[in-house]
Amino acid sequence: MTTLLEMKKITKTFPGVKALSDVDLAVEEGEIHALVGENGAGKSTLMKVLSGVYPHGSYEGEIHYAGELASFANIADSEKKGIIIIHQELALVPQLSIAENIFLGNEVARSGVISWPDTYQRTEGLLKKVGLSDPPATLVEKIGVGKQQLVEIAKALSKDVRLLILDEPTAALSESDSAKLLSLLLELKQQGITSILISHKLNEVEQIADTITVLRDGSSVANIDCRKEEVSEASIIQAMVGRAMENRYPERERKIGEELLSVKNWTVWHPEQADRKVIKGVDFNVHAGEIVGIAGLMGSGRTELAMSVFGHSYGRNISGEVTLGGQKVDVSTVPKAIFAGLAYVTEDRKALGLVLDEPITKNVTLANLPGVSKYGVLNTAEETKTSEYYRKAMNIRTPTVAQRVVNLSGGNQQKVVLSKWLFTQPDVLIMDEPTRGIDVGAKFEIYSLMNQLAAEGRGVVMISSEMPELLGMCDRIYVMNEGALVGELDAEEASQERIMSFIVRK
Ligand SMILES: Nc1ncnc2c1ncn2[C@@H]1O[C@H](COP(=O)(O)OP(=O)(O)OP(=O)(O)O)[C@@H](O)[C@H]1O
Ligand SMILES: [Mg+2]
Repeated sequence: MTTLLEMKKITKTFPGVKALSDVDLAVEEGEIHALVGENGAGKSTLMKVLSGVYPHGSYEGEIHYAGELASFANIADSEKKGIIIIHQELALVPQLSIAENIFLGNEVARSGVISWPDTYQRTEGLLKKVGLSDPPATLVEKIGVGKQQLVEIAKALSKDVRLLILDEPTAALSESDSAKLLSLLLELKQQGITSILISHKLNEVEQIADTITVLRDGSSVANIDCRKEEVSEASIIQAMVGRAMENRYPERERKIGEELLSVKNWTVWHPEQADRKVIKGVDFNVHAGEIVGIAGLMGSGRTELAMSVFGHSYGRNISGEVTLGGQKVDVSTVPKAIFAGLAYVTEDRKALGLVLDEPITKNVTLANLPGVSKYGVLNTAEETKTSEYYRKAMNIRTPTVAQRVVNLSGGNQQKVVLSKWLFTQPDVLIMDEPTRGIDVGAKFEIYSLMNQLAAEGRGVVMISSEMPELLGMCDRIYVMNEGALVGELDAEEASQERIMSFIVRK
């Protein structure tokens, strides 16, 4: 076997942070190489060094690629050599078509004029390769994240990819979409394409990786050859966190009290398509001290339900009744919903959860300014103290809370979103995919916080696509399908099979 890539003693420093120190990475031609490690370990940074996002000269160490010493000045340089990176946050333009996105900056032209027939034809061929049958003219915003991820790969294939880098491609995908994507990677491998896969879903890594490199605190700490050694999720975790993790879910003493939140006959119409009912007369409730899960496939209406209840943030012509502690409450705007005692942690941290250019301090206190003000004047010392508290509680990896959120790793950004809503001290916290992109250790911390909220007599609603997590954490699980609740299971009777049976039965 030949070595396609060798990164040697890579060191990368940002002001106040050593993100990588003397990292080595060797990738064989034609293999699937997984890169794993805790949030902030340096995975994305290493891949940005490789692909020229951080140009030659801005880091120390050497990159040997395809037998040459590489010194990329930008992404275009690395792309010319067949290195294509698909970033953690998708970079497609929602308002453009699939075809336009694929050939953006790389248009198919005839005598200087974009040739649409050619573009569409080539797009069709590429889409076929990744298993998509949507028309090339479809707007990207009309397809789900799963398909968007496949379009990104189709785009990579349009550029003659030799080394494909995927930074958490399945974080936002359902189980079936993830499975599709992984089998596509295996197919590409058959065609000789090498990939580097970053993922927190260790079961996937275990399934498809040929080799695994583990980063911890900016150093490479382990190299596992899956063809020679027996690997398991447990052994990967051990290498990642430096110790064995006995339990994935913290113990909790269940003390369930009175009904806290009740939503009745909740009906929501689509914001643009006036005749489309998105949520169809849903009833659900949460008791004090209870953790309630909502299972369902992507697009089943879980996020729309949560967002519409939280300040009518989604939908039109909303009707139904919300009570908290037996009192009817007005949740028609976000401030009113917060005032009533609700909080909602969004699944889409980039678009809705954070002000990226602002420091951690501002983001944590954003939804509860009175909590850090006196007589209407902001107390910055209080603001810092509060953010420091959450930095420790959530283990947000950063030297200072003055750091702008845009500079945090993906998982650490998610922890800031969570802190922000915890600080509103809600009676009921609705969490939408709260552990997406979060490493195993930090997941445990988040679960512990949920347990703590429940122990304080609050209610927690967890929307999640990861069934093991729902089964591990919830007292009760609702199953949603096509905008309606189609099942309800107590913890004792719940299982992956039973949840699926509700979804399939309809
Ligand atoms: N532009 C930047 N400025 C300052 N610090 C940065 C910048 N980019 C990354 N860092 C820091 O470098 C470290 C590594 O970040 P990186 O994004 O590579 O982590 P990661 O392993 O990809 O984590 P995750 O799993 O959360 O995505 C973190 O401490 C992060 O805060
Ligand atoms: Mg990352």
